[in-house]
Amino acid sequence: MAVRSIVLYGHPALRKKSQAIKPVQPIDRETKKLVADLIATLDNAEGLGLAANQLGVAKRVFIVNLSHIDPAETFRVFINPEIFSRDGECELEEGCLSFPDMYEYITRPERIKLRARDAGGNEFTLEADGMLARVILHENDHLEGKLFIDHLSSITRQLMRGKLKKLRAEGVASAASVASAASALKSSGAPQTPHNARLER
Ligand code: NI
Repeated sequence: MAVRSIVLYGHPALRKKSQAIKPVQPIDRETKKLVADLIATLDNAEGLGLAANQLGVAKRVFIVNLSHIDPAETFRVFINPEIFSRDGECELEEGCLSFPDMYEYITRPERIKLRARDAGGNEFTLEADGMLARVILHENDHLEGKLFIDHLSSITRQLMRGKLKKLRAEGVASAASVASAASALKSSGAPQTPHNARLER
């Protein structure tokens, strides 16, 4: 379990469509490691959700953690998610760990139904609304190489052009150092964190 660097806007990994994980049960070692790294990295960044391609891995996996805003929540793992129902509409403010300090109001469906596999490889279905639906929709977009700014009106995007250009330049510049930092972390071994227990469920 290791805290890894999150790639920033401008990194090509964010525009890549992710590949499904072979539906093996129990889940393979490589995927387990990926999930553990996602959890450690999201926890460290204090974010609400994180997709595998934000770590530069084009696999259909993301995690959500709403415990910062709802103490009853904990890490939720979604492997090969498939949203099969979208209903209603709502506008909420969104940010993304690949776009530091950027928050925008985005309109998305209010309620969703999906199926996915959990950290143990077991299939589950889930109905979600509110913030949970919102974060799932945001993370699911990542798996398609889609970003939250793609949902903005062309006028808003036009207004943000300067800021996006600056972010993109920083993201491109960090791409090389992210790759070397990630491999350095990988070889340094996995630090233990208390979230192992949650992963086991
Ligand atoms: Ni994001």
